[in-house]
Amino acid sequence: MLKDTYVVNFPQVLHFGCGSRRQAAAEVDRLLAGQEVRLFLLASKSALTSSPGQELLDSLGTRVVGYKCGISSDPPLAEVEECIVALREASANAVLCLGGGSVLDTGKAAAWLSQGSGSVAEYFAGSIPAPEKIMPLLALPTTAGTGAEITPNAVLTDAVGGQKRSLRSGLMVPKVAVCDPDFTFSLPRRITADSGLDALTQALESYISLGASEYSRGLAGRAVALLMRWLPLAWEDGTNREARTRVAEGSMLGALAFSQSSLGAVHGLAHPLGHILQLAHGYTCAVLLPHILAWNLPSCRPALQALAESMSCSGAEALLEKVQALTEQLQVPGNFRAAGLTPAVFDYVVKNCRSGSMRSNPRPMSDDEVIALLQKLS
Ligand SMILES: [Fe+2]
Repeated sequence: MLKDTYVVNFPQVLHFGCGSRRQAAAEVDRLLAGQEVRLFLLASKSALTSSPGQELLDSLGTRVVGYKCGISSDPPLAEVEECIVALREASANAVLCLGGGSVLDTGKAAAWLSQGSGSVAEYFAGSIPAPEKIMPLLALPTTAGTGAEITPNAVLTDAVGGQKRSLRSGLMVPKVAVCDPDFTFSLPRRITADSGLDALTQALESYISLGASEYSRGLAGRAVALLMRWLPLAWEDGTNREARTRVAEGSMLGALAFSQSSLGAVHGLAHPLGHILQLAHGYTCAVLLPHILAWNLPSCRPALQALAESMSCSGAEALLEKVQALTEQLQVPGNFRAAGLTPAVFDYVVKNCRSGSMRSNPRPMSDDEVIALLQKLS
């Protein structure tokens, strides 16, 4: 059953296409019209030192008054805190993030939580009210996968409490998103596969989510079709401009969809599993995806059938087989045995999987059913 009422919350401006980074400086000026521009730049090292990254930096010029380079994957709260200190020291009045999901999520959280007087740990724990405003924020993704340039989420890790989960606020939707596929041309194969399969998981989970609407489903269905067709080609040849562009576009469309509809059990389980097994997010999703799609099929067969038909696929089962074949082609294993999944961590996963994503899954999954799945994967 699709939702009959919904609100959409997207970036004000979205630039897409090779070379769109050249619009970033003008967008900063537009956002801060009438004020002195004091931009804080948060970037991944590899993106900043790449040729398009250097061109972007040159175009921003003296607007940049402070920067931080390099963020850990699964960013810990302490790194958000460090960013807040640095942007306050620089008296910045806007944040531009350039990087993968970890960089973008850290920048989003820092731009928001810097507007209050509490610590990041206090906001993460929900022990004090979060700020009601955010610093102007621009996001330039350099991988084609997480959709963090579109979404209201920042996935952070509390190293002390041993918890990885999303902070969520509509305020964290960046004011401007600039999706320039040029940044993805130099990505290594593993990152191409992991981020692309994350994007595919997001699009598929959005399509069958309990929070789906005609609006989100239109975007999600197109994202699935683009990613299924072009991700294998981007994996085969990273310099294939058409493939890189269509994968980046599929990732963006999927993010526009799932940021409105929410996700499903793959993402619900991927956060605790990825944290406890120390695996990349997209890779964790890709291992889970074929299993959970098969589990969900009895509860969403008409939707998956319609999606399959829109892609000239003979039926829902055939679509699921194609998804599984794609994960195998991109060298994703069918379980977590090599990653060391054992019954010792089952309780942790069960306790930490009950997120909004899990609640949006089309087929409810009890604790016993989660454990049965984990047994199959270990
Ligand atoms: Fe994801």
